[in-house]
Amino acid sequence: MVAETRLDPQTLVPRVIGRYTPVFVDHAEGIYVWDRNGQQYMDFTSGIAVVNAGHCHPRVVRAIQEQAAKIIHAQQNILLHEPMLDAAAELTATMPSSLDQVFWANSGAEAIEGALKLAKIATRRPAVIAMRGAFHGRTHAAMSVTSSRAKVRAHYEPLLASMYYAPYPYYYRAPFGTAPAEADDYYLSELKALFDTMVMPDDVAAILVETVAGEGGYLVPSARWLQEIRSICDEHGIMLILDEIQTGVGRTGTMWAFEQFDVTPDIVTVAKGIASGLPVSAVVANKQTMDKWPPGAHGGTYGANAVGTAAAAETLRVMRDEHLPENAAEIGDVILQGLREIQARYPVIGDVRGMGLMLAVEFVEADGGPNPAAVNKVIANCFEENVLLINCGTYDQAIRVIPPLVIDRQQAKEFLAIFERAVAAL
Ligand SMILES: Cc1ncc(COP(=O)(O)O)c(C=O)c1O
Repeated sequence: MVAETRLDPQTLVPRVIGRYTPVFVDHAEGIYVWDRNGQQYMDFTSGIAVVNAGHCHPRVVRAIQEQAAKIIHAQQNILLHEPMLDAAAELTATMPSSLDQVFWANSGAEAIEGALKLAKIATRRPAVIAMRGAFHGRTHAAMSVTSSRAKVRAHYEPLLASMYYAPYPYYYRAPFGTAPAEADDYYLSELKALFDTMVMPDDVAAILVETVAGEGGYLVPSARWLQEIRSICDEHGIMLILDEIQTGVGRTGTMWAFEQFDVTPDIVTVAKGIASGLPVSAVVANKQTMDKWPPGAHGGTYGANAVGTAAAAETLRVMRDEHLPENAAEIGDVILQGLREIQARYPVIGDVRGMGLMLAVEFVEADGGPNPAAVNKVIANCFEENVLLINCGTYDQAIRVIPPLVIDRQQAKEFLAIFERAVAAL
């Protein structure tokens, strides 16, 4: 036992990590976590969209335990091991056949670094177009393509040069008409205008897009918008990188969100849900692209960690065997409909959106502006009823609804009742 006096968060955790809840957790299972006093909470955060297969899925726990007893650190430059190959085979089996090779890394930001470096070295071009409002991580390159909130990048400049930004569809707040058909023309023309005003297309290595925007507010673009970006990339020899770090591993109701847009990227970044909470990420591309990386041009001490990739391989099998993407689609629909019914009763809710179990509820002031105060209050009210939630959006204007994908109908209904009481109490 560790002495209680040594467990002081003031001394152990720096203030840069702001915490949504005071919960001092002890253990977790499925969609629930328990604190050290035995209090149970419904986790509608999934540890920020990570424990898609549920907390401590017994099959994943066993895979971790068994691998840890065999070898923990089988350094990838020195040793080959079964889990790294097993997980790569499981991962590529879920993707289109053109995405057939995996580079393993340790975090989302690191996967973004890898994807940007790969696109640059494969095309020998310097520039990148990213989306305004995107979040791709906190390393210097990842910050350079991030603009979801100024505080993520402020005071860290200079960031990478040759980064350009186009607006991402936010139909609820689109400047010209909220119907995708009208708004897309505007969003696409702004992207194309970069080629007339800022950068020649043959200098652009990649266009980087979150398939569904995460931290920026859970924004779902139209299929047409993403398909047109694919065409622009094809026309100019630009690589399309889809960031599936938050959307991936079943979260949106299919294994990868891009499946629902009928678009195949050149490079995909994967992290979060892939290994049920162990720090594993991946860059996936085709062999011809990956072959442009000469030996030593990229790497990392901990990439393809044996325990991490064992967890990833088993998580991917659990996804398939338990039909968790399908469950995300089905229960996501129940929650989406339920939230829309609540929206109809409370004008403080301006928009309900999302795909599968990547849903968000946007709160508005009477004049239609963002209402972060209502967001905070509803999150606090839900916490009083033992439901954990977090926000998203540049102005903290929305609440994310992202439970583990193992959630059932009864639990979804229970959540909806609690959420409605929380809104009613505003
Ligand atoms: C879409 C997206 N990309 C990248 C990242 C960065 O991942 P990490 O925090 O593991 O570096 C995140 C994290 O929230 C994300 O949502």
